[in-house]
Amino acid sequence: MRTAMPLALPALAAATGLLLMTACGQQIPEPPHVPPAESTETLAPVEPARPVFDTEALGIPMDEASIADGKAIAQTHCAICHGLDQDASLRADAPPLRYVLSLYSPENLSEDFRAGIHVGHETMPDFVFGDLGMDVLLAYLVSIQETPTLAE
Ligand code: HEC
Repeated sequence: MRTAMPLALPALAAATGLLLMTACGQQIPEPPHVPPAESTETLAPVEPARPVFDTEALGIPMDEASIADGKAIAQTHCAICHGLDQDASLRADAPPLRYVLSLYSPENLSEDFRAGIHVGHETMPDFVFGDLGMDVLLAYLVSIQETPTLAE
């Protein structure tokens, strides 16, 4: 026994050490996956978050025909600068239309649009579409809104 102990202890220590190492090896968490900054767009959610608008309170008609009419107006008057639907904007300084109501409070946008006043800055023309035009344009805008992701 006396001679066995000194022999057994290092062996036990070695075995324990091995066990601990193995256990530690298993416990070391995977390093968090931090993608390089330039690849953040791959993290965009599959289902884009959509801002919610009280279209009834705002008096915006959300039927398909109105949305289609609004899209036609946007195609004619906005698409030369702003991206429609999922398109990128042609002008780098104009946000894609699917984000504009997030940048702008829909209440203000709707009031400004209805009054036919300026919604952008000096390089964006003012538009006067009349009430019906404003309503359907807003219907189209509301129908395509997404919450911008950090990547964009
Ligand atoms: C000649 C180019 C051009 C056209 C045409 C145009 N826009 Fe813009 N718009 C811009 C630019 C540039 C900005 C960015 C303004 C800024 O960042 O201050 C902008 C900004 C906006 C904003 C955000 C305003 C804000 O305060 O951030 C809205 C909403 C918007 N446009 C709607 C429209 C709609 C709707 C149409 C079509 C009826 C349209 N724009 C047509 C150039 C244009």
